[in-house]
Amino acid sequence: MKKIKIINGPNLNMLGKREEDHYGTKTLDEINEMILNEAKDDFIISFFQSNSEGKIIDEIQNSLDCFAIIINPAAYTHTSVGIRDALAIYKGIIIEVHLSKVDEREEFRKINYIRDIVTKTFSGEKEYSYINAIKYLKEIK
Ligand code: DQA
Repeated sequence: MKKIKIINGPNLNMLGKREEDHYGTKTLDEINEMILNEAKDDFIISFFQSNSEGKIIDEIQNSLDCFAIIINPAAYTHTSVGIRDALAIYKGIIIEVHLSKVDEREEFRKINYIRDIVTKTFSGEKEYSYINAIKYLKEIK
């Protein structure tokens, strides 16, 4: 089975306790459980979350053998050339995910360092942004 790495950036470990209007009520563990249920017959899934830019970059470099990387870089979406450059090394499918409607929020969230190098973006559907990413990968695998 093909491998998918799911990478979540800063403050996503606080889901469930964080701005529910934007991010919903589910914890990251609950979302990961939903992802596993959706993906279990089709993919080997592994999860990574960090609040540190360098650790996320290391994890992307450790994922070069994956069929796809699903990444929610969270705040680093709007700031990180390093994460963009690491993703640019990766030859597989990159799916950008956001729980909130990131393109319709503050101006600074419209700055996006990865949008032009990802295969597809799912945003604004709270935890279902991740589920829709898995459904898309099932269609194209
Ligand atoms: C987010 C949107 C980002 O702007 C924000 O910094 C996050 C989460 C989202 O999932 O909607 O932490 O990536």
